[in-house]
Amino acid sequence: AIAKDPRYVFVRGDINDRALVESLLRQHKPRAIVHFAAESHVDRSIYGPGDFVQTNIVGTFNLLEAARAYLGESTAAAREQFRFLHVSTDEVYGSLAADSPPATEAFPYAPSSPYSASKAAADHLVRAYCCTYGFPAIITNCSNNYGPRQFPEKLIPLVTLNALAGKPLPVYGDGLNIRDWLYVTDHCEALRVVLARGRIGETYNIGGNSEKTNLDVVKTICATLDELRPNPLIPHHSSPITHYSSLITFVKDRPGHDRRYALDASKIRDQLGWQPHARFESGIRETVAWYLAQGDWVAGIMSGEYRKWVEKQYGVRD
Ligand code: TYD
Repeated sequence: AIAKDPRYVFVRGDINDRALVESLLRQHKPRAIVHFAAESHVDRSIYGPGDFVQTNIVGTFNLLEAARAYLGESTAAAREQFRFLHVSTDEVYGSLAADSPPATEAFPYAPSSPYSASKAAADHLVRAYCCTYGFPAIITNCSNNYGPRQFPEKLIPLVTLNALAGKPLPVYGDGLNIRDWLYVTDHCEALRVVLARGRIGETYNIGGNSEKTNLDVVKTICATLDELRPNPLIPHHSSPITHYSSLITFVKDRPGHDRRYALDASKIRDQLGWQPHARFESGIRETVAWYLAQGDWVAGIMSGEYRKWVEKQYGVRD
């Protein structure tokens, strides 16, 4: 939708390419960097932690150094305005007990996967740059995102697309792990608020106020599909299935699988006036409807490298 907007430029590059990052900063003179660039999938971090260290830790260090050099060459007025917004995750707080209050920004860090450890390390670096160099950064820690265009390695698109293809819906362990689900446009809106009004050196939790077990999430997707695309014909089955939930299959648990994430997002609500709008059921409905309408996008994603990942990840579990 914005491809033709003159304010928009897309450059495909690696945050570890320091020369590229520095030349882009000199060329475009941005008033902010919103740092989303990360390897983000826990299961991939279990198979290949090296990429997570490289992109999430070393890449963040590179961006910080490039931004610091850029600010050194900027005018005092530009320096004053500049913000580095580091987008992080609730997973840095580790697994919460069932009766624990949700994590506030003051919670100790206790990451348990290579992914969350790499994000925690990046958060520490960003905070250290604020303290040491007066670097104008702000950190946000969000809960599990969902919505259109999410890469199908993640639970919600994976289950939606598997269901449509009549494939098993893999639920790890007992399916009772809890995540707090944040609709993607709510997250984006929160980031704009933090960018506009957040205080330098502060951390803000961004939560969806929607704690659900994985089994609840999968069943909600199934019920939505039952309504939007009823009675599918499943390959190799003679008659249509009546409920998508009959495809739910419990598989071996993820190693080190965190039991519960939950965020206390009262700071951003009280100090900056943001709270999530989407209700989980309506957010899921919009998401599922989007995947139903986007066959081409899905077909493009499901070929090539992604197919190899699915074979590696689920081949051994079936
Ligand atoms: P995921 O989308 O990978 O996000 P995260 O690990 O960052 O929370 O997984 C969400 C939850 O769903 C998590 O508890 C793991 C679980 N899960 C499954 O049960 N089956 C799956 O096939 C996947 C990908 C995840």
